[in-house]
Amino acid sequence: MRPKHNLLTLTITLLCSWSLTKADPQTSLINKGCSQYNATNLSNFYQNLNATLLDLKSQVRNDSKHFATAQSARGANPVYALFQCRNYLSNSDCAACLAVADAQIRNCSAGSNGARVIYDGCFLRYESNGFFDQTTQPGNSMICGSQAANGATAFNAAAQQVLEDLQTATPKIPGFFAATKTQVVGTGNAIYAIAQCAETVTQSGCLDCLTVGFTNIQSCFPNTDGRAFDAGCFMRYSEKSFFADNQTIDIAPFLKQGGSSKKRAIIGGVVGGVALVVILLALFAWFRLKKKPKKLPRGDILGATELKGPVTYRYKDLKSATKNFNDENKLGEGGFGDVYKGTLKNGKVVAVKKLILGSSGKMDEQFESEVKLISNVHHRNLVRLLGCCSKGQERILVYEYMANSSLDRFLFGENKGSLNWIQRYDIILGTARGLSYLHEDFHVCIIHRDIKTNNILLDDDLQPRIADFGLARLLPEDQSHVSTKFAGTLGYTAPEYAIHGQLSVKADTYSFGVVVLEIISGQKSGELRDDVDGEFLLQRAWKLYEEGRHLELVDKTLNPGDYDAEEVKKVIEIALLCTQATAATRPTMSEIVVLLKSKNFMEHMKPTMPVFVNSNLRPRTDTSTSTASSTSNATAATSILSAR
Ligand SMILES: *[C@@H]1O[C@H](CO)[C@@H](O)[C@H](O)[C@H]1NC(C)=O
Ligand SMILES: *[C@@H]1O[C@H](CO)[C@@H](O)[C@H](O)[C@H]1NC(C)=O
Ligand SMILES: *[C@@H]1O[C@H](CO)[C@@H](O)[C@H](O)[C@H]1NC(C)=O
Ligand SMILES: *[C@@H]1O[C@H](CO)[C@@H](O)[C@H](O)[C@H]1NC(C)=O
Ligand SMILES: *[C@@H]1O[C@H](CO)[C@@H](O)[C@H](O)[C@H]1NC(C)=O
Ligand SMILES: *[C@@H]1O[C@H](CO)[C@@H](O)[C@H](O)[C@H]1NC(C)=O
Repeated sequence: MRPKHNLLTLTITLLCSWSLTKADPQTSLINKGCSQYNATNLSNFYQNLNATLLDLKSQVRNDSKHFATAQSARGANPVYALFQCRNYLSNSDCAACLAVADAQIRNCSAGSNGARVIYDGCFLRYESNGFFDQTTQPGNSMICGSQAANGATAFNAAAQQVLEDLQTATPKIPGFFAATKTQVVGTGNAIYAIAQCAETVTQSGCLDCLTVGFTNIQSCFPNTDGRAFDAGCFMRYSEKSFFADNQTIDIAPFLKQGGSSKKRAIIGGVVGGVALVVILLALFAWFRLKKKPKKLPRGDILGATELKGPVTYRYKDLKSATKNFNDENKLGEGGFGDVYKGTLKNGKVVAVKKLILGSSGKMDEQFESEVKLISNVHHRNLVRLLGCCSKGQERILVYEYMANSSLDRFLFGENKGSLNWIQRYDIILGTARGLSYLHEDFHVCIIHRDIKTNNILLDDDLQPRIADFGLARLLPEDQSHVSTKFAGTLGYTAPEYAIHGQLSVKADTYSFGVVVLEIISGQKSGELRDDVDGEFLLQRAWKLYEEGRHLELVDKTLNPGDYDAEEVKKVIEIALLCTQATAATRPTMSEIVVLLKSKNFMEHMKPTMPVFVNSNLRPRTDTSTSTASSTSNATAATSILSAR
C-alpha cells in the first residue's frame, strides 16, 4: 500500500508542478448562482448579454486585461458584467478561464437576469443593475479542502498571520492583488496565499470585504487549503503552490502603520463626495473620541484578555451585598431569574442574578463548565460575567453592573426620547458587533435566543452591552423551546423558532431586526398604537417601506434635522432584511456589521415580506397552545401569533 500511495502522491505532485509551468486556466468551479428572476424581453436581454460578454472577451484577449467591466443598456433589459482573473494567470490562461466561465454562466435557465460563476482562476458575473462597487453580500462563504495539515498548531499560526497580513495589505496595493509564500516554522512546508478585490471597489470596501473573507476562511484551518469568496473579493491559501514563486509580492511595506485608518477614512470620504466627507469625518471623530479612551484600559476586546476562571463568591457575601436580596435592590426580573444590585465589601458594585433553573444532576455538572465558558467571553458589547456561587439548589451569577440600566427604559420608559440618532445608531452597531462575536468569533458559537431591548444594557457612555447570553445553554437539552419561559420572548422570536423550534444564529438575526425597528421608531414590537392605524411595528415598517415612506417610522422625538435620512432608510432596510420570513435569506450578524458600515449596498438586496404580514403564511392555531403556555411576560400576548 505504502509505496503505491507515495507513487500516486508523486505523480500528482509532478502533474501539479507540470501544470504550473504549462498552461492552466484553473477552472475548477468554486461557486455559481443564477438569479431567480427572468428578463422580460428575451431577445433584448440576449442582445445585451451577448454584447457585454463579447466586450469582456475583447478586453481580455486583445488588450490583455485581467479585470474588465462592460455594460449594454439598450432596451428594457440592460446587462452589466464584470470579469476578473487572478493576476498570476498568464494572458492566455485568463482568456481560457473566461471562455469556460462564459459557457457556464449561460447555463442558467433561459432568461435568468443575473448570474455568477467563481473559479480558482477567475470570476464572471452579470446583473440587470450596476453592481461593480459591491463588496460583501449575503451568500459569501468559503470552501475548505478536506485534508488536515501536519502540525496543526504551527500551520494555524502561520496561516492566520499570512491571511491577516494579506487582509491588511491588499487594500493598500494598487490593483488590489497580493500573493505570498510563507514557510511554516518547524515543517518543510510553505503556505501559498492570495487576496484580491474587484478593481472597482473602494479601498475601504476592499478592506470590508477581505475582513469578512478572512473571518470565513479561518474556519478552514488547519486544513491544507481554503478559499473565501464574496461579491467584491477573493482569498485563497494552500500548502500546494498554485502560482509560480516569482509571482509573489513583498507586502511588508504595506503593513507599516503609515496608512492609518484615519488616512483611509479621509481618502474614502473624498471619493464618496463632499457631503459624505463631512458625515464620515464627524462620525469618525465621534467614534474616536467615544471609544479610544475606554477601550484600552478595560482590555475587553482582543489581546489583553487572560483566560482566568470565574471568581467563586461566597453566598453570605452576596447576601450581605444585596441586603439579603432585598426588593429595594432589585434591578429587574428576567426570564432566568431576578437581578439585584449588590455592593461588595471592597465597594465594587455588581449585578447579582439568582437563577431559577430546574434542578437535575446533569445541571450541576454542567453549571461550572458553562459558567467557565461564559466568563471567558470578553467583548466590549457584552456584559462580563465575573463569577458565580452555588449553595444547595441555589445558583447565582455575578455580573458587572451597568448604571444606565437597559435600552427599553430609553426607548419606552422613563428616559424616552433622550437618545439622539447617533447614539441610536451606535447602539445598533454595537449590538450587531456583540452578536457577531458570539456567533462567529468566540470559539464556541453561542446563540443568544432572547435578544430584546431589556437584554441590551447601556454603559456609562451609552454603549450597548448584551446581557444574558449563554444562559440558554444551561437549560437541560430536553426542555422544549415552547414549553418553557426561557424560550425567548415572543414578539422578538423568529417564526421558525417559535413554531417549529428550529434554532440557528438566524433566530438572533431576526430578533436583532425587531430591536432595530424599535430603536428607530420608539414603538414596542408588540404594541398596537392608536396613533398609527393600530398596526404592529413589523407590519407598519413593512408597509411604509413598500410605499417608500420609510421616514414616517422614525420616532417623533427625533428631530428630522438631526439625522441623515439616507442612513436611517438604510438601517430600516437592514432591519427588514433581518426579519425576512426565511431564515436562510437573513444576513449573518457579521454581514450586518459590514452592511451597517458600508454605503450604497442596497441595490441588489431587497428585503422580502416578514412572515406575519402575509396572511397566507400566518401560523396556524395549533401553535397558539404553545403561546398560551408561555408565561414569559406581558409581551407574550403580543407575539407574532397575535396578529390573528
Ligand atoms: C423586445 O426588444 C426589442 C428590441 O430590443 C424590440 O424590438 C421588441 O419590440 C421588444 N419586444 C417587446 C415584446 O417589447
Ligand atoms: C447570443 O449568443 C448565444 C451563444 O453565443 C447565441 O446562441 C444567441 O443566438 C445569441 N443571441 C443573440 C440575440 O444575439
Ligand atoms: C480582437 O481580436 C480579434 C481577433 O484576434 C478580432 O477579430 C477582433 O476584432 C478584435 N476586437 C477588437 C475590439 O479589437
Ligand atoms: C449545464 O447544465 C446541465 C444540466 O443542468 C449539465 O448537464 C451541463 O453539463 C451544464 N453545462 C455546463 C457547461 O456546465
Ligand atoms: C423563469 O423562466 C424559467 C424557464 O425559462 C422558469 O422555469 C422560471 O419559473 C421562470 N422564473 C420566474 C420567476 O418567472
Ligand atoms: C517566472 O518563472 C517562469 C518559469 O517558472 C518564467 O517562465 C517567467 O518568465 C518568470 N516570470 C518573471 C516575471 O520573471
